[in-house]
Parts: sequence; structure tokens; C-alpha cells
Amino acid sequence: MSNRYDQMTYRRCGRSGLKLPAISLGLWNNFGHKDDFGVARQMIHTAFDHGITHFDLANNYGPPAGSAEENFGKILAGGLAGYRDEMVISSKAGYTMWPGPYGDWGSRKYLTASLDQSLKRMKLDYVDIFYSHRPDPETPIEETMAALDSIVRQGKALYVGISSYNPEQTAAAARVLRELGTPCLIHQPSYNIFNRWIEKGLLQTLDEQGMGCIAFCPLDQGVLTDKYLRGVPEGSRAAKEHGTLNAKNISEDKLTKVSKLNAMAQERGQSLAQMALAWVLRHQGMTSALIGASKPEQIIDSAASLQNLEFSAAELAVIDEISPL
Ligand SMILES: NC(=O)c1ccc[n+]([C@@H]2O[C@H](COP(=O)([O-])OP(=O)(O)OC[C@H]3O[C@@H](n4cnc5c(N)ncnc54)[C@H](OP(=O)(O)O)[C@@H]3O)[C@@H](O)[C@H]2O)c1
Repeated sequence: MSNRYDQMTYRRCGRSGLKLPAISLGLWNNFGHKDDFGVARQMIHTAFDHGITHFDLANNYGPPAGSAEENFGKILAGGLAGYRDEMVISSKAGYTMWPGPYGDWGSRKYLTASLDQSLKRMKLDYVDIFYSHRPDPETPIEETMAALDSIVRQGKALYVGISSYNPEQTAAAARVLRELGTPCLIHQPSYNIFNRWIEKGLLQTLDEQGMGCIAFCPLDQGVLTDKYLRGVPEGSRAAKEHGTLNAKNISEDKLTKVSKLNAMAQERGQSLAQMALAWVLRHQGMTSALIGASKPEQIIDSAASLQNLEFSAAELAVIDEISPL
């Protein structure tokens, strides 16, 4: 679609030169070898056609681990390779990837080897953003950040980021990277109406450090939609065996809250998914909401959230009452 850039809003990532789409697409679920490759390809094309220029991966996305990167590489090579310079592609390392002491956490050994593997799987020369996927309580932060700095100097990533670091760890990581001469571009934390931890200090730290923020699971893995209000539908994430969302965790109490939020979204003329994304994007420092999807239509629905990002004080107060900070 030639008008793809007219449909999306791009937000500056912290105090960097990089802008990200307000809605980005993650490949954690539904892009592995166990999933339908045709649907996966359609979702990437639909996203890109709607101005979603940022695709978020990690070494372990699948299942099996690594297969989302392989499939993404295939999709790129099969028709999108000419658009590489119009895309921001990220990957990460930090969770268990291979056996032994060098396939997990935050050592220089693991991060360097893992990114080399990710690049091979995606058939790319470089990623735009490479993340430390989680803080490592045992490896000195100086080592993890120096590994990220080296990766940038080697040309294997243009920018670096961190995920799920608390405010103190974030400030330390940003300081070490600044001293090394490679700014920390972005933080990727979980954030949605039911999970507001970043409002208790992290957002302020990111502002102070000049870092951007991209919120993962903005729809609480699909719970912040109307899909579970009448049971667990077939094919949904909660219906999957060994999936990342356990139906048992979607309590009656949660569904009562979802139902109230759904009524409010309807009054606003939005789907609940759209309202939940608009709510995440209400912060000035929020660069992007990082959605997942199982169908192309969900991506179109989610991207349309940008048509109404405004909340009245009364609406925000109702959401605070339903899900207090
Ligand atoms: N850094 C980290 O540690 C970390 C951890 C987790 C995730 N992430 C990143 O965040 C990304 C997003 O996570 P997520 O997939 O859990 O995000 P999410 O957006 O909270 O949930 C996505 C799910 O919500 C449903 N959905 C999406 N749009 C919808 C719409 N418009 N209407 C109705 N239902 C809709 C779909 O469920 P169904 O499948 O049921 O249709 C979809 O699979 C991941 O791909 C990954 O890149 C990062």
C-alpha cells in the first residue's frame, strides 16, 4: 500500500533520532513452526501495509525456540527484502536458549553468540535494536552493557535496549552505556490496564534517562478484549495447550472488570482492544504499544485505536477504580 505512512503515527523514541510506530507488532506467539505460515506472512504484510514498521522478535520465540526468527527471515526474503531500510527489526537474548552455562541470562558470551544465531536465522546483516531480555542477578551489569556496546560497534545492531529491568537497574544500565558511548535507546516492560507497575517509578526513570518505552502485552495477552466474556473461544490463546495464557488465570473477578471496561469502550465507539491500546499510549513517554495478533484483522482493528486516543478525566477515573494503581 503506497499510503502506508499516512495511516500511522510515529513517536520519537526517548531523546534519540529514531521514531517508532505507535503500534508495533511482536512475534512471540503465532509465528513459530507450529503455526500457519500463510497466516504469519499475511500478518506481517498487513502490519507493514498499515504503517507498522517495527517488528519485535527474540531468540526464543516460536515454538520451537528460534522458529519465529526463521519464519520472519523467510517472509522478508519472500517479498519484503527491498523494504529493509523502511523497517525496524529487533531481537533479544536473556532467557534459556541452549543447554549449558552459555545459553541463558546476561553474559557477554551468551549475548554475542545468541545475536549471531539470530542474524543467521533471519538472514540479516544487522538488527535495528538488540535487547538484554531480562536483568541477570549474577552477571555484573558492566559486562552485560559492555556486550551490548560491542555489538553496536561491530555493526550487528544499530541501537540497544533492555527489557523488564526495574528502575534502579535501568538507571545503572543507562549510566554504564552512556559512559561507554552507546546510549540506551529503549526499555521494553509489560504494561496494560491490569498491570500498572511501570507507573510506580519506571516511567519517571525513563524520562530522566531520555529513554523510550515500548509496552509489551498491552492487551494482557487478549484478556483486554471482549473475546473471553462468553467463555474461552476455540483457537484463542487461552484455548491452547501449553500456551502462554492459562484459562484458569482468567478469573470471574477479572471478567467482571473486563465487562465494565467493554461497556466503556462501546460508549467511546471503540473496541475494548482499541481502548486498552489508547490507554497505554496516553503517556507522553510511551513510544509504542507492542501488540501480538493471531489474525490480520486484529492488526487492522488494533491500529485503528489511533483514531481516538483521548480520555476525559472522568473516563480515566473510572478505569482507575476498576484497576487501581
Ligand atoms: N520482553 C518480554 O519479556 C516480552 C514478553 C512478552 C511479550 N513480549 C513482546 O510483546 C509482544 C506482544 O505480546 P502479546 O502477544 O502478549 O500482546 P497482546 O497484544 O497483549 O496480546 C495479543 C493477543 O491478543 C489478541 N488480540 C490482539 N489484537 C486483538 C484485537 N484487535 N481484537 C481482539 N483480540 C486481539 C490475540 O489473541 P488470540 O491469539 O486469542 O486471537 C493476540 O494473540 C510479543 O509478541 C513480544 O514481541 C515481550
